[in-house]
Amino acid sequence: MTDSRVRDGPPPGRDRSSGRADPSAGGAAPQGQAAVVATGLTRRFGDVVAVNNVSFAVARGEIFALLGPDGAGKTTTLRMLVGAIAPTNGTVVIDGIDIARDPEAVHAQVAYMPQRFSLYEDLTVRENLDFYADLFDVARDVRAERAQRLLEFSGLTAFTDRLGGNLSGGMRQKLALACALIHDPNVLLLDEPTAGVDPVSRREFWRILYELNRRGATILASTTYMDEADRCTTVGLLYAGELIATEDPGALRGRLHGEVVEFVAEPRATARRIVAALPGVRSFTLVGNRFHLVVENAAATIPVLTKRLSTQAVQVENMGTIPPSLEDVFVSVIEERRGAEPRAPWRGPSAGAGAHG
Ligand SMILES: Nc1ncnc2c1ncn2[C@@H]1O[C@H](COP(=O)(O)OP(=O)(O)OP(=O)(O)O)[C@@H](O)[C@H]1O
Ligand SMILES: [Mg+2]
Repeated sequence: MTDSRVRDGPPPGRDRSSGRADPSAGGAAPQGQAAVVATGLTRRFGDVVAVNNVSFAVARGEIFALLGPDGAGKTTTLRMLVGAIAPTNGTVVIDGIDIARDPEAVHAQVAYMPQRFSLYEDLTVRENLDFYADLFDVARDVRAERAQRLLEFSGLTAFTDRLGGNLSGGMRQKLALACALIHDPNVLLLDEPTAGVDPVSRREFWRILYELNRRGATILASTTYMDEADRCTTVGLLYAGELIATEDPGALRGRLHGEVVEFVAEPRATARRIVAALPGVRSFTLVGNRFHLVVENAAATIPVLTKRLSTQAVQVENMGTIPPSLEDVFVSVIEERRGAEPRAPWRGPSAGAGAHG
């Protein structure tokens, strides 16, 4: 099943037991109002500027990816969004409410899944849910039904009595999500929710997110995975504390400066030397023996490259141009901002386990 399939069709409306209006039918906040608005968010830790003047808006019903490498400022941004830390400068407005003015009202609307979600290892799945229901003052009369719905939804029904400490990585993240949703919030703020989860469980987790979105939830998820950003309606590229682009994945691809050439070559050490010395190459990565180059002009580069490789007796297969990935765009946008260092490869987890040369 493709993930896009579950995104189609009309939203069925939310849990009626909360008494909250169906957001997909124009509920709590006025129509057209953004669910999350960050304006000029800055956070310093001593001399470190973790987040620098970041502004963005997440429209209601969107799935927004905050994409950036380790240390980019994702967690710091999310912590400011939920009011866990105060910004040095800037404001956060969620569902029309300024978090600095009324944090309690914002917390009622928001599910926050921190990067290191604390599950109680010695409590069962159901007991963990109960604990969070207590924490959020979920009314007794809706609690059991809601817990049941969340367990079914996240595929945990069969594991209700399993201890938190005995869950697999993927199950833990699903339980963490279920706990974050126990008070029936509209806006989901998730900090790397699939970090360290196997690819099958990641897909499953995203299927759950799409379903929540289809039912009216607005989702902001941070990620270091390019393929996850690709599943979202909007991608914010966060790099060294700055939001360097905010666009839909397709539009972002259009920002690539250059073209992408791929090929397989052996021996790769020789091929690597040739590629590194080739004019017109903006960046390259090497995964196994597969080379991936962003070049200024493929038609100009390919003949020169082919000739040099053949002169050095390098065996080449499947050389051709391919559509750019978000990763290519990321590197390109970063280079544009740096104005130099054209060959630093992206080292995100999706770049083939960081295998560069
Ligand atoms: N409490 C803190 N005190 C000092 N520096 C901090 C603190 N929290 C974060 N930083 C620094 O701020 C920067 C951004 O960190 P942050 O955790 O927000 O990044 P991140 O994008 O979430 O990274 P990761 O992908 O590793 O989770 C880093 O340089 C980090 O070392
Ligand atoms: Mg983080």
